Amino acid sequence: MDKILIHGGHPLSGSIKVSGSKNSSLPILAATLLTREPCIVHRVPDLSDTHYMLQILIHLGAQVERASGTVTVAAENVQSVAPYDVVRKMRASVCVLGPLLGRCKEATVSMPGGCVIGDRPIDLHLKGFEALGAAVRVEGGNIKVFAPKLTGAVINLRGKFGPTVLGTDNVMMAAVLAEGTTVIEGAAQEPEVVDLANFLTKMGAKIEGAGTRRMIIEGVRQLHGVEHDIIPDRIEAGTFLVAGAIAGKEVTIKRVNPEHVRAITDALARCGLPIDVKDDAISILPNGDASALELTTEPYPGFPTDMQAQMCALLSTTDGISVITENIFPQRYMHVAELKRMGAHVDLEGATAVIQGVDHLFGAPVMASDLRASAALVLAGLKADGITEVSRVYHIDRGYERLDEKLGELGAQIERVKEA
Ligand code: EPU
Repeated sequence: MDKILIHGGHPLSGSIKVSGSKNSSLPILAATLLTREPCIVHRVPDLSDTHYMLQILIHLGAQVERASGTVTVAAENVQSVAPYDVVRKMRASVCVLGPLLGRCKEATVSMPGGCVIGDRPIDLHLKGFEALGAAVRVEGGNIKVFAPKLTGAVINLRGKFGPTVLGTDNVMMAAVLAEGTTVIEGAAQEPEVVDLANFLTKMGAKIEGAGTRRMIIEGVRQLHGVEHDIIPDRIEAGTFLVAGAIAGKEVTIKRVNPEHVRAITDALARCGLPIDVKDDAISILPNGDASALELTTEPYPGFPTDMQAQMCALLSTTDGISVITENIFPQRYMHVAELKRMGAHVDLEGATAVIQGVDHLFGAPVMASDLRASAALVLAGLKADGITEVSRVYHIDRGYERLDEKLGELGAQIERVKEA
């Protein structure tokens, strides 16, 4: 196992290019199962999560080639069973259910387990499949869905924590090959959902309203192969903007869609950090005067839950009292105990974190617990006095392409070493 060592206090400057989006790549790779023809997907980030997804596609019968960022998937013949061994490493494996149901009219996929960011049910995905006419059974740890035929329906996918991203993806991928019209009410509006809808539309699907709360899908008989570029990863972009805010002189993030990160740049601007946007590049120019903030995570276009931990790290060193409320995954605070080991003052009250900014964080051995929590610890380490040792960095490798190398290119003193 690797760990990352960060020698804090070295200012960052320069620019990095953002990679393709992890959370677009995973459902889009799953969507290649919807056609017998080859699909070519560019800018797939080199991450363990995209690797796991390709392993699942291979298990299901697809031919897969990967050359740098380009992945070709040819799913001429597929089978519809993905057992525990194949899917257990990644919760997003569940997004092969929709395309398998659409194409094979049946699928058996092992049920995803819980995860450290909280309970992650898939009841809304299953409700959507049932509305399309599928029978759903959960037995022996597997989800079985089958339908002699799928028929369009009106489906409300809004749950008690708001819309579901992968649930919208899953139902959309089944509905594109259903007979008739499906209306998804309470659809997720995230840019990754829009990227998937664009991919499916290029394949021949008929989808309206992607990016709004109401999507209308007219089923078609079959889909064809396509070539597609994955959108930039808005959470990677946001993470580097926060790195710039914490430890930068001037940091520029290139190949980003400014609209996709607006909630993040707005939050940083509200902290008093100057932000400059030019086409697909965003620069952050910290001036030493960042101030406290009140922040609530929301579905897109609100502030993303996937940036909450990183903001916690920033606000830990920002003057004044900040308050963060986590509305999507109320228990997503595994980073707090570790940030406290570095000298942060954070009190948790249910889903709310009250953060009293401190002048100094101190380097310490800390443990990564999930992807974004780990990123937050690395960011805190950039500012901390002394050396921060982040262990279990496989969490980071699931979702950030070369995070340590990119930070090194910006001037961070950061190294990856084998854990003894
Ligand atoms: N929910 C339900 N029932 C469901 C599905 C979700 O109650 O059937 C609840 C969840 O428990 C949560 C809320 O609805 O409270 C939103 O969950 P959502 O389904 O949108 O999450 P997801 O689709 O499983 C994706 C991202 C996550 C990101 C969330 C929220 C991927 C692969 N994952 O998960 O990304 O946090 O949307 O934006 O796209 C990450 O990248 O670190 C990550 C965790």
